[in-house]
Amino acid sequence: MENRVKKAGVAKLEVAGKVVDLPVYSGTVGPNVIDVSKLYAQTGHFTLDPGFTSTGSCESQITFIDGEQGVLLHRGYPIEQLCDKSNFMELCYLLLNGKLPQKTEYDAFLKEVKHHTLLHTQQDRFFDGFRRDSHPMAMLTGAVGGMAAFYPGAVGNEDPAERKLGSIRLIAKMPTIAARCMKYTMGQKFVDPLNKFSYSENFLNMCFSVSAEEYEINPVLARAMDRFFMLHADHEQNESTSTVRLAASSGAHPFAAVAAGVACLWGPSHGGANEAALRQMRAIGSVDNIPEFVRQVKDPSSDIRLMGFGHRVYKNYDPRATVMQKTCHEVLEALDMKDHPQLKVAMELERIALQDEYFVNKKLYPNVDFYSGIILEAMGFPTTMFTVLFALARTVGWVSQLNEMLDDPTQKIGRPRQIYTGEAQRDYVPISAR
Ligand code: ACO
Repeated sequence: MENRVKKAGVAKLEVAGKVVDLPVYSGTVGPNVIDVSKLYAQTGHFTLDPGFTSTGSCESQITFIDGEQGVLLHRGYPIEQLCDKSNFMELCYLLLNGKLPQKTEYDAFLKEVKHHTLLHTQQDRFFDGFRRDSHPMAMLTGAVGGMAAFYPGAVGNEDPAERKLGSIRLIAKMPTIAARCMKYTMGQKFVDPLNKFSYSENFLNMCFSVSAEEYEINPVLARAMDRFFMLHADHEQNESTSTVRLAASSGAHPFAAVAAGVACLWGPSHGGANEAALRQMRAIGSVDNIPEFVRQVKDPSSDIRLMGFGHRVYKNYDPRATVMQKTCHEVLEALDMKDHPQLKVAMELERIALQDEYFVNKKLYPNVDFYSGIILEAMGFPTTMFTVLFALARTVGWVSQLNEMLDDPTQKIGRPRQIYTGEAQRDYVPISAR
């Protein structure tokens, strides 16, 4: 990666009676950054930023978010335009390569992805080791990490062609692994990929077809699946992506680093929120119970949060939520489920929360997870699969960010520091004398 940061000025910091100059850099758009990488050498001090609320960890040219304006750009293209005019496979190409493909490049990319969708037969046997009631995210974490055993050559590989192949393999095999996680928990036979289908159709077929009868792919659902994948494809330096970068910064196998990202995504504050949001809507049950629920969320002594609301970066509407809400209506219409009880609860919750001082003052808006659970449930996915679908979609983001990091000449092993408040040095006391 060619580094493109520009020097934009100098910040002065006075610490312990010493004034130091810290370089200020600007990117293409977005806030400038103060480079503190030499701060310890210059002053003997570290910075402290738990949760990294004011810390940038890298230079990146993949995704830009303006949280105040509700803007999300992939390689400069707005997510709304991509969702309207493009598709997930083209977005994968864009994220990986930095430009939209020509027709021949697009066709070659599709062909390559399709060529790698099958799993090694030994990998299929992995699943037998899991209990049938295992959470699909537990299986996914294990299965993705286990892929490193099948492709050991990808580790530390400087060969761009080998690295590219590793990226394609992950993107191609993730739907097959994800569908197997679902089939395994249902006690159904695994369905192999079929190359006549598009990426999203193929995934639906692997999840929902059974040998006893023909499965017809509903084009509205296939489009909704594709849009779900697009909306979750990348989101700059979020928790799981930062986890992937950090894990890979030690030179770990890229597939193992992605498995670390899957594990991170599982949490309800991140990718697990779609599952949590739907469970919460089910627990609320009907619109009549919403005022009492909102009262509980606002009660300072309760730790209940409205799941699917709020975001670390978006302090205005999450642009992905707008597309997701529209898709939700399309799916429920296609399935003749417009009276879906959770949709009614969601719409009323959103209406109330957007007018309520508590949510308005804290800049809490629906995020991408608020409506996605309703869509996925209507499509027939079990709740425990929701985060797996997110992981499938985010794989291209993880891989693109990981490749970018490996190509960045300024990349170092990620190693934060701390402020230590434990005991100072003391002498060991034998057990008889304590
Ligand atoms: N419901 C109620 N109150 C909330 C919510 C919420 N969903 N989110 C934040 N708040 C309140 C907090 O209680 C806090 O109030 P306080 O200042 O009085 O203490 C204030 O808003 C700020 O909250 P923080 O947790 O400090 O904000 P942060 O940026 O760290 O959190 C997060 C972002 C984790 C997403 C949070 O909004 C949340 O927990 N939301 C629900 C879970 C969720 O939907 N996660 C999905 C995120 S999108 C994704 O990962 C794809």
